[in-house]
Parts: sequence; C-alpha cells; structure tokens
Amino acid sequence: MKLTKLKGLKGEITVPGDKSISHRGIMLGALSEGTTEITNFLQGADCLSTISCFQKMGVEIENKGDVVTIKGNGLHGLKAPSDTLDVGNSGTTTRLMSGILAAQSFVSTVDGDASIRKRPMKRIMTPLSMMGAKIESINDNFCAPLRITGAPLTGIHYDSPIASAQVKSAILLAGLYAEGKTSVTEPYVSRNHTELMFRYFGVDVETEGTTATVSPATKLTGGKVEVPGDISSATYFIVAGLIVPNSEILIKNVGINPTRDGIIKVCKEMGGDITLLNERTVSGEPIADILVRSSSLKGITIGGSIIPTLIDEIPAIAMLACFAEGTTVIKDAQELKVKESNRIDVVVNHLKKMNASIEATEDGMIIEGTGHLTGATIETNLDHRIAMSFAIAGLVAEGETEILNGEVVTISYPTFYEDIKRLAI
Ligand code: S3P
Repeated sequence: MKLTKLKGLKGEITVPGDKSISHRGIMLGALSEGTTEITNFLQGADCLSTISCFQKMGVEIENKGDVVTIKGNGLHGLKAPSDTLDVGNSGTTTRLMSGILAAQSFVSTVDGDASIRKRPMKRIMTPLSMMGAKIESINDNFCAPLRITGAPLTGIHYDSPIASAQVKSAILLAGLYAEGKTSVTEPYVSRNHTELMFRYFGVDVETEGTTATVSPATKLTGGKVEVPGDISSATYFIVAGLIVPNSEILIKNVGINPTRDGIIKVCKEMGGDITLLNERTVSGEPIADILVRSSSLKGITIGGSIIPTLIDEIPAIAMLACFAEGTTVIKDAQELKVKESNRIDVVVNHLKKMNASIEATEDGMIIEGTGHLTGATIETNLDHRIAMSFAIAGLVAEGETEILNGEVVTISYPTFYEDIKRLAI
C-alpha cells in the first residue's frame, strides 16, 4: 500500500464494530440460552477466529455479514472440539476462551499464528490454575500452543499485577463456572466490556474501584447486541483529522466507554478540536458521533491510570506527537512490548526512518514534535495497528510512504484504505 501527502480529509464515516465487544458477543452468545443476534459485528480476521473456534465446539453460528446469529448451547453445552482451536492472530480469543475452556469437561488445544506463539500466556495460566484448571504450554515456554484440561473450579480473589482486560476477563469467565465468588483487582481499571455484557446477559457482576466480582451463573440469557463502532479504529481518523490540514471528519456511532476513551482525553489535552455529539447508550455501552477538525497541537505527558484506556492507540498517538509543538512523553506503557509486535521498538525504529525525533524508553517513548516526517518503506511486523498508524503518517509525510504487508489491516479494519480514499479531497 502506497500513500502520499493529502490536501485534506472531509466527510462522514462509520468505522467497523468494536473488536473487543464483537469477541465477547460471540462467547457470551455461545454460552447463553436462546438466540443472540449481533449487529454491526466486526468482520475482522480476529473475530472470525472466535466464531470458528466456537463452531468447532458445536455452537451454531450464522454469519450474514453485518448480522451474526448464535444459537446458544447454554453454559454446559459446549462439545469437545475434534481439532485444535485455531485463534489465528487473536490474543483476545486465546485468553478469554481459555477462561471458558478451563471449566469444561473436556481437553482442548489452543494454537495460533507465529505472533500468537510469542505472546505471554503465563498471565492467564497462573490465575486459572489457582482456580483448579490444568493448563500446559505444550512447548514449555508459557506461550501457545496450550493444552487445557477443564476441571471443577473454585472462586478466587486475584490481585493482578497488570491492568489487562484479557486477564481479568479470562478469570471472570472461568468464574461463571466456579464454586463461590471470583474477583479480580487490577492496578488500574482496564476495559470493562466483559462486566457490562455480563450484566446485559443477566450475570451477577459487581464492580468497585479496580475490583470486579462475579458470582457463579446458572444461566445466561441471549438477546440483541448492537456493537458500537470501535474507538480504536476511529483513532486513525481522529489522528488524521487533527494532523492533515483542511480536515473535518464526522465519525459516527463510536463507542466512548470511559475505560476506552483515553484517546479523546489526550487529543483534547493536546489542543485538538474534537466534539462529541449525539451521546447515547446501545446494548449497555455509551456511544457518540465524533467531530474532528485540523488543529494546532502541543506535547503532553501521558502515563498512569490513563494508559489502559488508550493502550492500543499509542502507536497512533506517536504520530500525533510528531506534529505537536514541544515534547510528548509516553510512560508506564511497558505492556506495548507484548502486543502483536513490540510496539515500542517498532514505532520508534520506523518513525526514526521517517526522520522523527523520537527515543525509546523502558516503558514508552519520548517524542519531540518537529511538524515534519519523510516518507519511508514501513515493515508492518504483521501488526495491524502499526500498518494503520504509519499509513496515517504517510498522509502528512513528504514523499511516498509504502506499507509492506498492508493487508494486515483486515485483522481489525478491513475497509481502512477505502475509507481514507473516500475522505481524501
Ligand atoms: C483487549 C484488551 C487489551 C487490548 C486488546 C483487546 C480485550 O489487551 O490491547 O487489543 O478485548 O480485552 P490486554 O488485556 O492484554 O491489555
């Protein structure tokens, strides 16, 4: 994919459905009584992996494009898969599904692509084992492939060393099946889509501060789930709208859950002209339309409790920082090293290639905004968010930017390049 400097971006777009919520809709729908109908489901490769894993466990799922219908098997109706459960590139499928598999009365094997085989799984193996499950890393490296022998589980309280919604959700999903209550305390609150959807499906879940507690469930009730637009996908057009001159973009129906909206707070603090319109709630999740206009930006420091609320947006924020006056410091973001790629190294090395003034730190990066980037050839490291962040950089850089393996955007935003073309003036 090749990109060059644009004169501006103007118009209205709707970004695809939220990835986190789409995954959870399939999983809870599969465990429910009755039929669940998910609209605006993300047809990205990661969420399709979740569908195929649950189909392999005997769940009837019909995917008609924008609408996905799941005939729930009930909490105890999953069947032993005859084959390995292939999660593709999806960390969310791996970790959340492991929480469910830990409680089944069968043995399963979970595996994925080369990137998944490097992602840390000890973070879920430890708490799920404490609950009574047997989870082995087949290559003995605390990574996939995992062999999960389900067992009767006991509720625990887990003090998670990291703020991770995938870890929290794996434990809470296992907690549906456990004897007694299961709770997780995190250092900071991570995205709470599991808790909100539990409530929507009739599960007894409480949250207080950074602790979420689930009671064992007798049944989940399926229904209609409308998936909001993914704020992580909207981010590329928020950032582009701010840094490409002469831009005005209205992004419709975007999820603005406070555990995900760090990008909006950061853009506003940097001086970005962003307005939320038409705020409302769908299927228990807050949403709004986001109006963004080209802006003069200033550098800021980003760290602490806001980090989990914008963790996937940091590569795009780095692009923003290159066009902000002064210094932007991103700290407390060491989790970036264990995403689809090492996003600290990859962002810093590639932005250096584009002549940015940027240095990596142990837990983030420091960027001096120069207001200037030079086009370069970008290796995506098969990381969708790297591809999209650098594609946006390509819209403001001098010369041509080439994104190698640019098709990796299909993981979370299949129509990404078409949407850029549609808005370009
Ligand atoms: C996700 C949680 C986050 C995020 C990922 C999706 C989820 O991961 O980076 O893209 O759906 O729960 P961590 O839990 O590893 O922080």
